[in-house]
Amino acid sequence: MTAIPALPPVARSVAELRRIVAEWRAAGHKVALVPTMGALHDGHLALVREAQRHADKVVVSIFVNPIQFGPNEDFDAYPRTLDADRAALATVGAALVYAPTVGEMYPEGFATTISVTGVSEGLCGATRPGHFSGVATVVTKLLLQAQPDAACFGEKDYQQLQVIRRFVRDLDIPVEIVGVPTVREADGLARSSRNAYLSVEERAAAPALHRTLSDTAAAIRAGAAVDAALEAGRRAILAAGFVSVDYLELRAAEGLAPLAALDRPARLLVAARIGKTRLIDNIPVEGA
Ligand code: PAF
Repeated sequence: MTAIPALPPVARSVAELRRIVAEWRAAGHKVALVPTMGALHDGHLALVREAQRHADKVVVSIFVNPIQFGPNEDFDAYPRTLDADRAALATVGAALVYAPTVGEMYPEGFATTISVTGVSEGLCGATRPGHFSGVATVVTKLLLQAQPDAACFGEKDYQQLQVIRRFVRDLDIPVEIVGVPTVREADGLARSSRNAYLSVEERAAAPALHRTLSDTAAAIRAGAAVDAALEAGRRAILAAGFVSVDYLELRAAEGLAPLAALDRPARLLVAARIGKTRLIDNIPVEGA
């Protein structure tokens, strides 16, 4: 008979989180944080496994952060699956779930935001005003609440990862930020909690996003003009059944400056809508 792994305990308040982390520190343990909004999938579990390479104890925060959603976005619909999330985290040995309430995170009178210029602008920043300041504010709070040695974030949200690296550096927050490669389905679709919104037909069409990234990167590597390759990529995404393309762009891998040629390590980033769902993805593009 296989033993059922024990569910990780849940801390609901900053005080409880800090008490547990202080006990670990007193015992000489290193601590890592994996910030999430729950609805966990294999991509999140990969973050936990990576975090365990950096620390003895891994805290997974689960908090659907209201201030990073725009007024017409899916905050209310966002899946909240704490029991299933704990069961999944038990299988990888996460030490603690930190699931604060909105009131604990943003008490009456809360009035501070962290906003990051440069890397927050363009790409998702253009279509989701306020999103990255919502992310930066909550991640700053989570880092100060848990005070981990390391924190892990998926490369799937590549612009978010760059924003986090920027403010951690700018604010001298003493934590190692670890980027973790995107986990994909067998057909290339990036794992995302939002894939749950896709109909059967949309799910069948969705891998076109990754396919287009790969084809566009190959064309650019082979010497195609960047503008023409991006335009062909946009057309391919629409032809596959997506209703619109928010962006398909080639940016510098560090700092996200727009690139007209592959003259340094780059990232190809895309956001497109299929039905009512907005999907994002990105891949690295290195010169030959
Ligand atoms: O990537 C996410 O799930 C969220 O943006 C994060 C980093 C947990 C902040 O709410």
